Amino acid sequence: MRQFPDGFLWGTATAAYQIEGAHDADGKAPSIWDTFSHLPGKIENGDTGDVACDHYHRYREDVGLMSELGLNAYRFSISWPRVLPAGTGASNRPGLDFYQRLVDALLERRITPFITLYHWDLPQALQDQGGWARRDIATAFGEYAGLMGRTLGDRVKHWITLNEPFAFVAIGHLFGVHAPGIADAPTAFQASHHVNLAHGEAVRALRASVPGSRIGITQVSMPVYPASDTDADRTAARRFDGFTNRWYWEPSLIGRYPDDVLERLGRAAPKIEPGDLDRVAPPIDFFGHNSYSRAVVRDDPSSIMVGATQIETRNPKTEMGWEIYPDHLYDALTRITRDYRAPDIYITENGAAFRDQPVNGVVDDPQRIDYLRTHLAACHRAIADGVKLRGYFCWSLLDNFEWAYGFSKRFGLIYTDFPTQRRIVKASGRFFADVARRNALPNGTSA
Ligand code: FCB
Repeated sequence: MRQFPDGFLWGTATAAYQIEGAHDADGKAPSIWDTFSHLPGKIENGDTGDVACDHYHRYREDVGLMSELGLNAYRFSISWPRVLPAGTGASNRPGLDFYQRLVDALLERRITPFITLYHWDLPQALQDQGGWARRDIATAFGEYAGLMGRTLGDRVKHWITLNEPFAFVAIGHLFGVHAPGIADAPTAFQASHHVNLAHGEAVRALRASVPGSRIGITQVSMPVYPASDTDADRTAARRFDGFTNRWYWEPSLIGRYPDDVLERLGRAAPKIEPGDLDRVAPPIDFFGHNSYSRAVVRDDPSSIMVGATQIETRNPKTEMGWEIYPDHLYDALTRITRDYRAPDIYITENGAAFRDQPVNGVVDDPQRIDYLRTHLAACHRAIADGVKLRGYFCWSLLDNFEWAYGFSKRFGLIYTDFPTQRRIVKASGRFFADVARRNALPNGTSA
């Protein structure tokens, strides 16, 4: 048995747009994902999150399933346009009530809620005014954080400001593959600075409104390894790390932007006003860490901005095409601890998509069990080596709307039959429940 520390949290993670559905119910206004998913050709199969897992109506059943699995924590996000349809100003009572009911249902089952304020579904009304490219979005985000803190802060102590700035800034504003579908480098990097200002405002608003708050931010972390031992590949790996990891982590952790990235950005670098860097890094209590895989890169002068290209390895991959390399988690956790003296850490997402199929009402998913086993073993090893890991949230509770891939990628511990909304706990769900109940990983696991 590999025992985890007392009080370790075992949970699952979800995001509002990926599970809630009820896209126009009870006064909710559209988000950029409502708009984007309805544009032809943007989402595989023409899928949308209009209904998704219908969690808005089925949250009691879903909380019941968490409880049946013996989980003691749950990370979910608030849909900003459900509670503030115009992004600022008047709040929407029925929207706030939904989250009140959800939180109460969790607490009744002794499940600790972790709230993410922003998991990519910006109110369309704010996008229409410029979205993240506009500096005063930071003020709007701070107001929204304060509203949620005042509404739920008596019962919810764990707050995450933003989910994966890298992903929504780069995939949404640089590559144009996610909402809002912009592909423009100066816009993207300016947006990334406003995201940091917004984080700062939200931390201050939550501190003021939530007694005993524990506040963090969730970053995606992808360790980068050089394809060879040459100097060229090694410096390429450092550049790639700068653009995917350090650029997004460092402002909120240490109040600065990495010089090497700023230099390469040149004219695409964001405008930073005097005093900004003092505002982006108020102390936080934990670092939320989303980690799925690693990148192996080689030097590539034809890649204009980063000068590096990711290469394929021979290791097996998940349905997303992401390499399975459990050590990446150990490397990522120890690196954050070593380089940034990180406060407490939670794995706020880790998991895998596979091609699951029910057979006679049963979903057997040995590959996901294997993924979880080896990645949890890597977490255990990191804890033994001094990492202050306090909890692990598996992505995801149930199969859901996987952004541009629609419903084609299944990440759940619970199978969702979308036409009927029937839920089936997968074998991996039972495995994870067993680990959570024992607070330990059974023997026979290598990593
Ligand atoms: C992360 C996202 C999450 C989910 C997983 C697979 O980047 O935060 O919403 O899509 O990837």
